Amino acid sequence: MRIPIIAGNWKMYKTPQEAVDFVQAIKDRLAAYPQAERVICPPYVALAGVQAALDGTEIAVGAQDVHWEEQGAFTSQIAPNMLEGLVKYVIIGHSETRDHQGVTDEMVNKKAKAALAHGLRPIIAVGESLEINEAGQTREFVGKQVHAAFDGIPASDLANVVIAYEPIWAIGTGKSASGEQANDIIGMIRGIIAELYGDEQANAMRIQYGGSVKPKNMTEFMSQPHIDGALVGGASLKEDAFVDLVRLAVEAKGLS
Ligand code: PGA
Repeated sequence: MRIPIIAGNWKMYKTPQEAVDFVQAIKDRLAAYPQAERVICPPYVALAGVQAALDGTEIAVGAQDVHWEEQGAFTSQIAPNMLEGLVKYVIIGHSETRDHQGVTDEMVNKKAKAALAHGLRPIIAVGESLEINEAGQTREFVGKQVHAAFDGIPASDLANVVIAYEPIWAIGTGKSASGEQANDIIGMIRGIIAELYGDEQANAMRIQYGGSVKPKNMTEFMSQPHIDGALVGGASLKEDAFVDLVRLAVEAKGLS
């Protein structure tokens, strides 16, 4: 049984104070769903405040990116050792970092290895553009991203890795994939993990869907056998919506 994981990716939203107010307001409601892992990924400057506000709860904190070096002349970047003790998870390879900051497959792999070496759990995001999707190359493209991301990652680290399949055309557009489409690609990703590491590891790997996930389509995604949770942008910024997403995941997986 894979424990569902619902992660809110806040992107560049909420000041440190707004972030703390938000988690204070929902932490007791989220505590009602221990059957799912609940993760909040605020901007870097809000991490310490959010972590302190969530102290003593089972709600985890995640960062939205990490560099692979431990220090250096990398203006604006944050090293994995700086996040140690502050976060449990770190999103790596989000399409917005691939598109706007030039993050490549090779860098995703380096970031994932650095995160794991520092005891952080990567949420590795993959997904295709509309152009690739329409050209019928989704499987090939996403497959390549997955192979690259896991290059050299030992099986002993896999329990600490989550994958998020996020078709770029579905992010922030209100246009989500259908549950079946997402399940199909996520099943393919699980197949790659099976090829690389064997069936047991593949069956244990948690793979989220992301891209315009809302309370109204959550059940459709969470009812699919391969989808183990969601990486959520917009809807994770609203108190009621985020709590609803967690509740709907728990219900759809028959864990309530
Ligand atoms: P969205 O973003 O839910 O706003 O589409 C998802 C993401 O980018 O992780």
